[in-house]
Amino acid sequence: MSGIDEKTQKHIEKKESVLQSVDKKAVEKQSQMGKLQARDRIHAILDPGSFHEYDLFVEHRCQDFGMEKKLLPGDGVVTGTGKIQGHPVCIYAQDFTVAGGSLGLAHARKITKIMDHAVKLGVPIIGINDSGGARIQEGVNSLAGYGEIFYRNTLASGVVPQISIILGPCAGGAVYSPALTDFVFVVDKITKMFITGPEVIKTVLGEEISMEDLGGARIQAEISGNAHFYSTSEAECFEQVSRLVTFIPWNNRKRADRFPPKLPKGQWDINEIVPLDPRQPYDVRHVIQALVDDSDFLEIQEHFAANIVTGFARLNGETVGVVANQPLVLAGVLDVDSSDKAARFIRFCDAFNIPLLTLVDLPGYLPGVDQEHAGVIRHGAKILYAYSEATVPKATIILRKAYGGGYIAMCSRHLGADFVFAWPQAEIAVMGPEGAANIIFRKEIAEAADPDAMRKIKVEEYKEKFANPYIAAANGHVDAVITPVETRDFLIRTLEVALQKHEERPARKHGIQPN
Ligand code: HXC
Repeated sequence: MSGIDEKTQKHIEKKESVLQSVDKKAVEKQSQMGKLQARDRIHAILDPGSFHEYDLFVEHRCQDFGMEKKLLPGDGVVTGTGKIQGHPVCIYAQDFTVAGGSLGLAHARKITKIMDHAVKLGVPIIGINDSGGARIQEGVNSLAGYGEIFYRNTLASGVVPQISIILGPCAGGAVYSPALTDFVFVVDKITKMFITGPEVIKTVLGEEISMEDLGGARIQAEISGNAHFYSTSEAECFEQVSRLVTFIPWNNRKRADRFPPKLPKGQWDINEIVPLDPRQPYDVRHVIQALVDDSDFLEIQEHFAANIVTGFARLNGETVGVVANQPLVLAGVLDVDSSDKAARFIRFCDAFNIPLLTLVDLPGYLPGVDQEHAGVIRHGAKILYAYSEATVPKATIILRKAYGGGYIAMCSRHLGADFVFAWPQAEIAVMGPEGAANIIFRKEIAEAADPDAMRKIKVEEYKEKFANPYIAAANGHVDAVITPVETRDFLIRTLEVALQKHEERPARKHGIQPN
């Protein structure tokens, strides 16, 4: 062994012995489930050769239930630093093959150490969750570990981006770390995320449900809204993570990287996408793709509350956060879930210096007993709060309908939009012409010889007078009425001047956002 002294040789052997002391059965089981091993996951996400592992030799101190004899390699979690497409990140991956990835105090302290590191370095923190939860043998010490993680998740919120990838069980209180982070990734048939498992539900409630139907990836992406990205394999999930990281800045003092500007791909003619008839649906994502660089749009929470679309794109090379009503789903109304979805996204963009582009086409808030009882008042208030609070550049385009509370909520001038543009077919009014005419001309319509004909006349009269962008423009609520083809150019020029924006607010400890 020329060139290697005895101590170095011993170190190499010690390191190898930790890395090789795997539970072969557990590893085999993991592979059979389509799951990679913890280190392989990290290597698959990071740039080749960029991973530096820390705390490989950390050991637990538990002396109970036979634990004193159990050596748990790395204490069931792998931590370190690396790069994604050249961007530095801190990362950890729980190792289910070591005591089910269960979280004891040493395991938790490895995680909190790498989280502290991420905040000090000002880089994103990525956590891969695959764990049976609090290590039962360690009792209150494992609960302490979770608490220390949640505390750091909260302190890191709005300072560095936090990404959670759920690649296995994430059960009990463990779910609250991902819930406190900015983006949650789930994978079909691999993610299992719930507070109380099927066994407990059966015992307490007498109901039978599979893990998949309780907290599988689809449920989290479509129904609960806990997840932001859904994929069908770990490889696809890692590509999504990599793409996301290119759109967002490393920390709250930086702007996202600028990319070389690209024209939209041209598969959509922007004049043709939005039908003139306000009742006709269309896919607002086509408008986004017709406006942004390379038609490249990274949608967030694509499968949840699809009546609003949120995601990242670039304009002239600069990242923007897009919020758009989706007329294809529930006519694009605001409701409990879409308000929550949009508000959280807006707050992320505001915290991380990402300008907001809002595309408006909605009939208002969704009416109905269900929504009222579900708290549409307090949930709906979140979007007002988020837009009003945001001090990043805010540009709004009213594509077609902007009625009632919906007009105000969708980043109107009144909530602090810096630029409000409207297309010529925009209708900005308290409500739709039909509803409005029925109320204010009720008498004339009722008393007419032909009420239907009179209703039509009155609806047209109302439309002529109010259902257009010019009254709003005459009052300065709209800065410019622009044509669809002019829009990209307007937005790029707007962004050029707006990137310098700096807005101060009255000093306070923090606001109290509605929930
Ligand atoms: C210690 C654990 C463990 C845990 C799993 N293991 N969970 N050890 N503490 N919480 C160990 C198992 O004993 C087993 O060890 C190995 O990990 C693999 O587990 P299996 O059960 O064989 O795996 P599988 O059949 O795939 O089932 C996975 C599972 C199940 C569904 C996650 O292990 C499970 O139900 N675990 C408990 C989940 C749970 O209730 N967690 C909540 C804890 S309370 P051996 O040596 O046999 O290989 C909690 C509160 C936190 O988390 C509160 C914070 C606020």
